[in-house]
Amino acid sequence: MPVKTFLAISGSLRRSSHNTGLLRAVQALAPVGVTIDLYQGLGSLPFFSQDLENGAGPAAVADLRRRVREADGVIIATPEYNSAIPGVLMNALDWLSRPAEGDPVLRDKPTAILGASPSQFGTARGQLVLRQILHRIQTPVVAHPEVTVFQSHRRFAADGAFAGDDFTESLLRALLAELVLLTEHKSLAGIA
Ligand SMILES: Cc1cc2nc3c(=O)[nH]c(=O)nc-3n(C[C@H](O)[C@H](O)[C@H](O)COP(=O)(O)O)c2cc1C
Repeated sequence: MPVKTFLAISGSLRRSSHNTGLLRAVQALAPVGVTIDLYQGLGSLPFFSQDLENGAGPAAVADLRRRVREADGVIIATPEYNSAIPGVLMNALDWLSRPAEGDPVLRDKPTAILGASPSQFGTARGQLVLRQILHRIQTPVVAHPEVTVFQSHRRFAADGAFAGDDFTESLLRALLAELVLLTEHKSLAGIA
């Protein structure tokens, strides 16, 4: 297994977030050679404005961009808000998609997405929206498996820790394996 470092971004600022808990479970399941760092600065990013786009931009944005640039891949766990994604996550994606005419760090960055929600659809609609946004940014996204953790209120503890089950854990392992493969395809294609 080649050495890979992935940056995990939760789209929730909630202290006991199921999506952050899901990413912690992914961290714990990482195979040998894969390191997953959890990004925790989403709430520090300023609201995107083109007026702030000069040089490296605000310090929090420069830090996020550096972390994405240095990672081999990104893992995004998104809540579903009103059948879409939370504004804080959209804000981060807007920053990462710029400068549009330059070399935005998320373009060509292998990415895996997943999500958890209390509904029976488990963020299926939110992930479709996220997939579409990433397509626009030209971010390659793992196609399968689609990890939609439904009825999350029954599967996460009050502190947000994932209770774990064999089926979901096998999906999380498969998602990680596919992300590793996607990073390999990228190097083979010479995009890196
Ligand atoms: C503004 C808002 C909108 C929401 N809309 C949806 C929705 O469209 N579909 C859904 O399944 N859950 C929806 N929820 C419930 C979230 O899925 C639930 O709060 C989830 O636990 C949030 O993720 P987190 O635990 O990672 O913070 C919504 C919650 C909020 C606060």
